[in-house]
Amino acid sequence: MKMIKRLPPILLAMLIQLVAFGICRLVDTYGGQEITLSAFNWALIQGALAAVMTLLSRMSYWWIGIQLVFAPLLILGLAFKIPLWIFPLTLVVLLMVFWNVAINRVPLYLTNTKTTDKLLSLLPKEQGGRFADLGCGLAGTLVTLAKARPDMEFHGFETAPVPFMISKLRALLAGASNVHIHFVSLWVANLSHFDRVYCFLSPVPMPDLYLKARDEMPEGSLFISNSFTVPNIKPSRTVNVQDGRKTKLFIWKM
Ligand SMILES: C[S@@+](CC[C@H](N)C(=O)[O-])C[C@H]1O[C@@H](n2cnc3c(N)ncnc32)[C@H](O)[C@@H]1O
Repeated sequence: MKMIKRLPPILLAMLIQLVAFGICRLVDTYGGQEITLSAFNWALIQGALAAVMTLLSRMSYWWIGIQLVFAPLLILGLAFKIPLWIFPLTLVVLLMVFWNVAINRVPLYLTNTKTTDKLLSLLPKEQGGRFADLGCGLAGTLVTLAKARPDMEFHGFETAPVPFMISKLRALLAGASNVHIHFVSLWVANLSHFDRVYCFLSPVPMPDLYLKARDEMPEGSLFISNSFTVPNIKPSRTVNVQDGRKTKLFIWKM
């Protein structure tokens, strides 16, 4: 049971759909002649079963909706004769963009302009220095900061293939030669070179990432997390950004 709870949500959701499908197949096969339902009705029942199991396994609420409509939409897709290759192709494209949602439970959303302006004011006042964006997304933050501070070096670490390629291209097209994008996991990045390490991830990696930052970052450097704090570790400072989503930057001085 513990092992099942530790599965990434996407795998748990798939497992639940398989169990719901198995139950429907069993009832259809051995339930007697009075149960003669269309494939679409079976899909509705499978969706309802999967939604209930998802609710019971305390997954986030949006999974319940996804589980409910997954099988019926699949049957509708088949009824409208959508070519079968569309499904695996869509899956591959989504995986290439949102790779880290499935693997690391970190989605792709981007730092806004007002927060980037605030980050700019948190860069070292003296010339030179190095900044890292752990999980740099589409590199918008890095490119903007790099243009404002040509004296500094900016490094992005990204393991989702499409965002990584877009980041590379963006840095190239912007002519930002002080931006370096690495196809390297943030867990492998060596943080000992950086004066500022920024991340905008999710609550899941924060406790381990804080320990990594504390072990590796040089004394006096700043570890800055957009929106997600570290449980039981009080930040040295919290900066409120005057934007629509009331962004908070949690800052730990190493
Ligand atoms: C919320 S986005 C933030 C993007 C960017 N830092 C920004 O603020 O605009 C988080 C990014 O972290 C990436 N990510 C998640 N886990 C990662 C890992 N282990 N290594 C590298 N990148 C990761 C995701 O692919 C995603 O692009």
